[in-house]
Amino acid sequence: MRITVIGTGYLGAVHAAGMAQFGHDVLGVDVDATKIDQLAHGVAPFYEPGFPDLLRENIDAGRLRFSTSLREAADFGDVHFVCVGTPQRSGSAAADMTYVDAVIKGLAPHLSRNCLIVGKSTVPVGTAARLASMVAALAPAAEGVQVAWNPEFLREGFAVNDTLHPDRLVVGVESAEAEATLRQVYAEILDAGTPYIATDVATAELVKVSANAFLATKISFINAISEVCETVGADIVPLAAALGHDPRIGSRFLAPGLGFGGGCLPKDIRAFLARAEELGVEDVLTFLKNVDAVNVSRRRSAVDLARAMLGGSLKDKRIAVLGAAFKPNSDDIRDSPALYVASALHESGAHVRIHDPEAIENARTSHPALNYTTEVQKAFEGAQLAVHLTEWQEYRELDPQYLSTLVTTPQILDARNALDIDLWRAAGWTIRAMGRPTR
Ligand code: UDX
Repeated sequence: MRITVIGTGYLGAVHAAGMAQFGHDVLGVDVDATKIDQLAHGVAPFYEPGFPDLLRENIDAGRLRFSTSLREAADFGDVHFVCVGTPQRSGSAAADMTYVDAVIKGLAPHLSRNCLIVGKSTVPVGTAARLASMVAALAPAAEGVQVAWNPEFLREGFAVNDTLHPDRLVVGVESAEAEATLRQVYAEILDAGTPYIATDVATAELVKVSANAFLATKISFINAISEVCETVGADIVPLAAALGHDPRIGSRFLAPGLGFGGGCLPKDIRAFLARAEELGVEDVLTFLKNVDAVNVSRRRSAVDLARAMLGGSLKDKRIAVLGAAFKPNSDDIRDSPALYVASALHESGAHVRIHDPEAIENARTSHPALNYTTEVQKAFEGAQLAVHLTEWQEYRELDPQYLSTLVTTPQILDARNALDIDLWRAAGWTIRAMGRPTR
C-alpha cells in the first residue's frame, strides 16, 4: 500500500520505518526540513535503540522516502497517518491541537481522490469527528476521504519492537471500508495473532488517554505509599515486590521513585482532565489531579532529601547528577524528573555536574545554565553528594569502590531505587533511597 506518515518525531519516524518494514511504500513528511534531510540520509534525529538499522534498511530497499510537502503526500498516499505532537498548551492544561489541525488544513485541500486519514496522535475525545467535518469541507474528494483513529502505545526505548510487535491493535472506524483498509495495512501484525479491537473513533481516542491515565495512576499509587513508608520507617521496595506478586495487581509500572515524566503521561492526564471539564464529567476524574500532585511532589522530596543529606543547605555544594533523560534508553528530556531535580538543586545554589549517556545534547539546549559532562567519573570528582535520577544500566554497573576515591564525601541518593544498596554500603558509601528506611 502507499502510505504517508505525517510528523516524523519519536512516534512518526519509527512508525514510518515500521510500515516500510511490512512491505508498504512509505513517504514520511514533516515541516522540519533539517529532520527530513537527516532521515532521508538514514540518520536518526533522536536516540532510539534499533531505529537507525530499521531506517537504513528500508531506505536502501527503496520503500521509504521523506519529504516536506503535504501536496506530495496527498498525491502519493492511499492512507495518511497523522503522528504530529499534541503538547500541553501554554497557560492551560489542555492539549495544543495546532499541529494536528495544521496537518488537516495543509493536506485536505490537495485530496482529490479517495483515501483514509488515520490519526495516531493522542488527542482529546471528539477530535476525529471534528477533523472529519474539516476534511468534508476542505477536500475536493469530500466524502471519499474518511477519518479513522488508531492509537499508538509505543514506549520510547522499545519503539521498534512495540511498532513491529504491538501487544494489541486498536482501530476506531466509521465504516467497513475503513476497517478493511486498516486490516490490509496491518495484515502482518494481524496474521501474528495480535489482539485486535475495532470500535468507533471516540472509543479509540479514549482507549489511549485511559491507558496512559491508568499507568500514571499506578505509578503515583506506589509513590504515594512510598511517602507513607518514609513517614513510618517502612521499606517501599519489598512492599512493591509483595504487591506485584498478586497477578491482579502485577509488578510492572509499580517501580517507586522519582515518578513519571516524558512527552506523554504528564500532559495526557492533564489534557484528559481539561477535556473532562469541557464535557462536564470532571468530578469522576478528580483523582487524576492527585495523581499529578503526588508525581510532582516526589521531585520536591528528592530535592529535600538531597538538602538534608548535605546538612540542611545546598548552597555551594558540589553534586554529581546521574541522568538527565526522563527514563533510560531515551534521549528525551521532555518533562524529565531528572532535569527538574537537577535544575532545582542548581537554583538552590548547588554546583551540579550532570552526566547522561545520551541526553546531554538535548539537556544542554533546554537548560544551558547547568553543567554537563560526558564522562561519568568527571561528575563524581570532588562531589559532596551524588544523586541517581535516571536508571540507566550503566549506573548499575558503576564501581562504588573506585568512585569513593574521587568524591569528597561518599554519599549517594538513589531516587530510582535501582542501585545495589549493599554493594554501595560495603564500599563505604552512605546511601539513601526514596521510600526506604535509613540504616
Ligand atoms: C508512555 C506509555 O507507556 C506508552 O504506552 C504511550 O504510548 C506513551 O507514554 P513512554 O512515555 O515512552 O510511554 O514511557 P514509559 O515507559 O511509559 O514511562 C513513563 C514514565 O514513567 C517514565 O518517566 C518512567 O521513568 C516512569 N515510570 C515507569 C516509573 O516511575 N515507574 C514505573 O514503574 C514505570
